[in-house]
Order: sequence, then structure tokens, then C-alpha cells
Amino acid sequence: MADTLGCWNIADLRRKARARLPLGVWEYLERGVEDESGMARNREAFDRLTFRPRVLRKVDRVDTCTTLLGSESALPLAIAPTGAAGMMWHRGDLALAKAAAKAGVPFCISSASMMDVEAFARIDGIRWFQLYMWENRELSFDVVRRAQAIGCEALFVTLDLPVPPNREYLWRNGFGMPFQLNGRNLADILAHPRWLASVIGRYMLEGGLPRQANLPEELRQSVVRGAKPGALFKQDDLVWEDIARLRELWPGKLVLKGVLHPGDASQAVEMGADGVVVSNHGARSLDHSVAAIDALPSVVEAVGGRISVLLDSGIRRGSDVVKALALGADGAMVGRATLYGLAAAGEAGVTRALDLLGAEISRTMAMLGLASVEVIDSDALG
Ligand SMILES: Cc1cc2nc3c(=O)[nH]c(=O)nc-3n(C[C@H](O)[C@H](O)[C@H](O)COP(=O)(O)O)c2cc1C
Repeated sequence: MADTLGCWNIADLRRKARARLPLGVWEYLERGVEDESGMARNREAFDRLTFRPRVLRKVDRVDTCTTLLGSESALPLAIAPTGAAGMMWHRGDLALAKAAAKAGVPFCISSASMMDVEAFARIDGIRWFQLYMWENRELSFDVVRRAQAIGCEALFVTLDLPVPPNREYLWRNGFGMPFQLNGRNLADILAHPRWLASVIGRYMLEGGLPRQANLPEELRQSVVRGAKPGALFKQDDLVWEDIARLRELWPGKLVLKGVLHPGDASQAVEMGADGVVVSNHGARSLDHSVAAIDALPSVVEAVGGRISVLLDSGIRRGSDVVKALALGADGAMVGRATLYGLAAAGEAGVTRALDLLGAEISRTMAMLGLASVEVIDSDALG
């Protein structure tokens, strides 16, 4: 596998990303919430799982292709929705989408993206759209219609942030919404001239800093100003009837993201969802939440094969993806792994992250004696 970046695993891309980004942007990308016990728990839960390989099972051709929510994907992996990618690289969301399309895996556009959904229309590949509900619900329904118009195959509704998460470092760094320049972040930004020129400088040349996209023109604000009334995310009053309303509105696949309890997974099946994402938001919502991989078996059992089950939170190696499949997931998603690639080297870095994960998935499958995704099951675990 050729490499021009000097990065041989996701941890290498992470180090490169850290060196390139100012602290405020880096901490937004990397950190969790409160005391950050959750990030370690996500990793510890993956690391606790072991494999029991089979031998003498012809693995000269390993096929990593599979179907994710009805679409053919080259890997059992998709890029998870992540907001503010445009602060990590100039037009970072597009770089993520292009690299995903080239790798033949789905990309989920975030509703907190700094780019209009229409900007993704020209990129081939499997497009999904993630929704947060705005205070003014009609805004959400409007953006859902726009996502449909550009051909998004699936709508992911993120449910694990009923209230804003407690990310204390964002306030300390002045990196909340609105962004506030202070002595600390100014010095830090000036100490990263490459980022300043290649990200902020390019936006300024194009006419200004990114704004909250996916809002009607009159409600858009630059990231350095606060949201206008009605334009804030508000999910504390969301109930199952709101999801039923989305089900009526959305003809494509409907997926509930952030489900950890089997009771919620059963209810998702009953209300007509097509899938759930077992996720604790990469330990960015509730610090002491169960690790997603630990919650997976009970959700898989509750769903009983009736709808798709994806998993994210903590994946840094291809072997993590194979563990999720062995526990019954249909596929996995990565948030930070591809963002490290993005912040390190733009589209080329995302491609590198996906290549590395793909090669690791394939190698792990071969080591286990598993030549195709369909044959991965709990027998692979030790
Ligand atoms: C910087 C960042 C921004 C994120 N923004 C969103 C978002 O806008 N919508 C969403 O549903 N999830 C968002 N997430 C959560 C991811 O979709 C995903 O659940 C999580 O990153 C998976 O964990 P991992 O980073 O360990 O792979 C974000 C995650 C990160 C790291």
C-alpha cells in the first residue's frame, strides 16, 4: 500500500492532524465530554474482545463488499456525520464526501455541516443525510426535502443529544457558537500559520468565513456570530410521534442514530425505521454512557434481523469493524478516524484513512479464515 504521507495507521494520521490544527479546533475534533471516561471505555470495550481464528480456510481472495441500507458498499464501513469539518480543512465536508465516493463507501452529510446539502449533489457515491431538529421544526422538514432532492438514500436522525453536551473545553477555548476570539485562542491561531492561511485565508478570499449552512438565507449567521432566533438546534421536546412524522415525510431509508437500549431498538422497528446506529456519539454526549460495542448484542437481539444495525464509537482499526460484525452489526461508521485524515492532508488523508481501515479489515478477515462479510459471526470471537 503506497504512502506519501508517512502514515501507517490511524494513530499516525492523528498525530499529523494534532500538529496541524490550533488547539481549539483540535479539541473540538478529539475530545469527549466532562471527565472523558467514555472515550477510554469505548476503546477498552473493543480491546477486551478477542478473536479465535480458524485455519486452512482458503483466504486468497477476501471480499469486503457488502450491502449497507440497500446500497452496495466496498467495505462494511461508512463515514459518520461530523459537523465543523470545514474548520479542519478548507471545504472539508466535500473532501470527506469525495474520498468516500472514490473508496466506494457511503458518506453521511451532517446537518451541522458548513456546506449546503446542494454542494454534495455533484459528487457520485452513496449519500446519506443526518438531521438535528431545529427549534423551528419547519426548518428541519425543509432541509429534509432538500436532502431528498439531491438524492440522499437514507436519513439519519440523531437522538443522543436531547440537550447540548457539556464540552467545557469549547467555552474555555472560545470555540462555542458564536466563536469568540480571546488572548488564548488568538495566540494559538497565530502559532498555526499554515492552518490560518490554507483554511481561514481561503474562506476569506472566497468572501468570508463559513456560515451555518442548511438554513434559509435570512437565518444564516457566520460562525463568529450567535444563531438567530429559531435557528438553534432543539431536541429536548422530541418524542416518538416526531419520528413518525419524519417517517411520513421521508420515502427513503430512515435510521435512528444513538440507540443503546434494546427497548428503543424494538420501538424503532415498530415505528417503521429501517435501521439504528448503536452509538454513544463517540463519547461526546453522556460521559458515563455504556460503550456502544457493549450495547450492541442486546440491540441486535431486540431487532432480530428485521432492520439494519450499524455501530460507531471508538473504531480506530479494521479489527474493530470485524468485531462489530461478529457481534451482529451489518456495518460500522467512523467519525474521528477519517477526520484525522482530513485534518492531516485533506482528501488524500481521508483516502489514506479509508485505505488503511480497508486493508486492516481484509487482513483481519483472512487471519480469521473468513473470505466474505456474510460469513462473519460470533464464532470468530474467542
Ligand atoms: C468532530 C465531530 C463532530 C461530530 N458531529 C456530529 C454531527 O454533526 N451529527 C452527528 O450525528 N454526529 C456527530 N458526531 C458523532 C459521529 O457521527 C460519530 O457518532 C462518532 O464520531 C463516532 O465515534 P468515533 O469518533 O470514535 O468514530 C461528531 C463527531 C465528531 C468527532
